[in-house]
Amino acid sequence: MEYTNKTVLLKNGKTCLLRRAEERDAEMLIDYLKITSGETRNFVREPEEIAITLEEEQEFIRKNREDPRALHLLAEVDGDFAGSCSFAPVRERSRTRHRCLIGISLYQKFCGMGVGTALLSEILHYAKIAGYEQAELDVVSANAPAVGLYKKLGFETTGTIPHAFKYRDGSYADFLFMVKKLV
Ligand SMILES: CC(C)(COP(=O)(O)OP(=O)(O)OC[C@H]1O[C@@H](n2cnc3c(N)ncnc32)[C@H](O)[C@@H]1OP(=O)(O)O)[C@@H](O)C(=O)NCCC(=O)NCCS
Repeated sequence: MEYTNKTVLLKNGKTCLLRRAEERDAEMLIDYLKITSGETRNFVREPEEIAITLEEEQEFIRKNREDPRALHLLAEVDGDFAGSCSFAPVRERSRTRHRCLIGISLYQKFCGMGVGTALLSEILHYAKIAGYEQAELDVVSANAPAVGLYKKLGFETTGTIPHAFKYRDGSYADFLFMVKKLV
């Protein structure tokens, strides 16, 4: 969907630019997916499981940009790419058209300075403009910064999946389902 760039002042005094992802960002976003997947155990894929080609990523970004019911925002802090946040339909069926799915992640070095709050607040605002009635996500229950951010912005826990992830060391992580009403 359409988006007009926005600048936000972070709590550390740095400037954060929010802008829509464009096809020219594809290579940067593939690198980011690989690096952030290695920085945290909170994502579904191991870094080597990310096998997206440049063309696939460009096509994904283009479709997202042209979809009036989807938005993929990037955050830049002092000109450096810090992370991204998006919404997209849970599923394009008449009975589920009121629900959108949220995704967010930052490079580790940009965590804790308010970028997540800036990105997610903006995404929720635009999800409402796009006509969604509720925003949904799932999150590793032990991911305190993420759960803290979601609760701060009005998400409520509606369910859990025990042992949603099984790591290579044999340990497990549970998931929380979280929902925020937009109307
Ligand atoms: C989760 C993530 C997006 C949060 O973004 P962020 O920029 O670090 O968060 P913010 O600095 O805006 O903090 C937002 C709120 O989260 C909460 N929070 C942050 N760190 C926290 C922590 N360690 N423990 C508990 N709550 C925490 C606070 O309520 C904070 O608000 P406040 O600073 O006004 O008190 C970011 O840390 C990240 O990308 N992590 C790695 C990837 C990831 O886990 N993504 C989510 C997958 S579902």
